Amino acid sequence: MTLEIVILAAGQGSRMKSDLPKVLHTLAGQSLLEYVLRCADALEPAKIHVVIGHQSERVSASVDSHLTRAEINWVNQHQQLGTGHAVAQALPHIEAASCVLIIAGDVPLIQPETLRPLCKIESGVNLLTAILPDANGFGRIIRDPETDAAIAVIEHKDASEKQRSIREINTGVMAARADDLKSWLSQVKNVNAQNEYYLPDIIALAVRENQAINAFVTKDTLQVSGVNSRGDLATLERHYQRQRAERLMESGVSLADPDRIDIRGKLNTGRDCQIDINAIFEGRVTLGDRVNIGPNVLIRDSVLGDDCTIEANSIVDGADIASSCQVGPFARIRPDTRLDSGAKIGNFVEIKKSEIGEGSKVNHLAYVGDSKLGRRVNIGAGVITCNYDGAYKHQTIIGDDVFVGSDCQLIAPVEIGAGATIGAGSTITKDAPAGKLSLSRARQIQLNNWQRPVKDPAE
Ligand code: UD1
Ligand code: CA
Repeated sequence: MTLEIVILAAGQGSRMKSDLPKVLHTLAGQSLLEYVLRCADALEPAKIHVVIGHQSERVSASVDSHLTRAEINWVNQHQQLGTGHAVAQALPHIEAASCVLIIAGDVPLIQPETLRPLCKIESGVNLLTAILPDANGFGRIIRDPETDAAIAVIEHKDASEKQRSIREINTGVMAARADDLKSWLSQVKNVNAQNEYYLPDIIALAVRENQAINAFVTKDTLQVSGVNSRGDLATLERHYQRQRAERLMESGVSLADPDRIDIRGKLNTGRDCQIDINAIFEGRVTLGDRVNIGPNVLIRDSVLGDDCTIEANSIVDGADIASSCQVGPFARIRPDTRLDSGAKIGNFVEIKKSEIGEGSKVNHLAYVGDSKLGRRVNIGAGVITCNYDGAYKHQTIIGDDVFVGSDCQLIAPVEIGAGATIGAGSTITKDAPAGKLSLSRARQIQLNNWQRPVKDPAE
């Protein structure tokens, strides 16, 4: 039996109070819809149908066509008349004999292992339920007092006081044959508190036909937690980050505080890394062995070799950093930067699109952009590579063993030969020869008769 999956994502998510459709809000840097799509894809369905409506183009455009192996069929639900109506819009695109698994687009942490048992069905409905301490707002599972079988779902707004005391809820995930769904959904009416066509109404309809309702009760309530408000999203984010932090520690990383780390992407780590509080990792980050990350550090799309240290309050973005480098505190490494082994970037230094050779040092208050530095170079405090002429960017090339004194401007394009020394305070506009001292500095003079003005005490 082939599997087709329907993801419901047409609603606005009015409780988010947002101009962004709910399923495009992000958890750990990835949209809610992307999580659900990845999970659906892992079940290897023949097709994934995503029902969209509110800002439909924005939602479909947000998904990279390579995200899933399965083909995605975007189905438009022009008016959001309820979850049952939403599924009905997808049905004409689905093979009659296939098993249809329905998932809401707002349950980002759902896992394929939880859904797989529901995907085999000959007749009736497979329903994923959960028991919550606070079931407020959810559809409640009504069970037959004698057989204990699930026989209906009553939405919170339609439920009696007694029904509201039930703590078993509909997670929104269910599966049935496409032809059964078609027949039941054609009978669903919108006579209820919300005047909506409720998908869960098919349960009672199936029961009327003596079809079996298989309720799978999940204990992992986090997986089936839907996002309805920004508060829900923040709660899920914290749970998710805590889980990731625990997995990191299990893999041999020391965390100063597992509640104060954020991983928004893929983080690979070697052995014995140490991460201080408030570190943020975005995109793809790889840390070698014994890497030390200080407090309040942001690292994005970068590779750090063994024994590197990133000191407090630094940003490392799009960098390839070899072993035993030291960065920060308060440093900013921008994209397309390569630090060769043992390089040292100190406080208030910005490096952009540059290669810093082995053992070279840019220790204080400098800007190095569009540059290539050789080995053992020393860049003094306050040095600026003037790489931009207002229209074009130009390169600065610095050979091995160059010493650039403090407060120099190197006006690119310019080349400093190996072993050259640049005197402090120079503005270098021409290539500086190897092994020589170059400087461009006005000579110091004294004015012997000059006197500092003195303020008149009578004023
Ligand atoms: C739904 C269930 C409820 C369950 C809860 C679990 C119904 C009627 N109720 O309630 O039993 O306990 O989920 O979280 O199904 N959507 C559409 N088109 C529509 C309406 C909704 O695509 O016309 C989508 C929404 O974008 C959302 C999903 O369906 O992704 C669920 O809709 P929502 O309004 O959040 O349903 P709940 O009230 O949470
Ligand atoms: Ca919901």
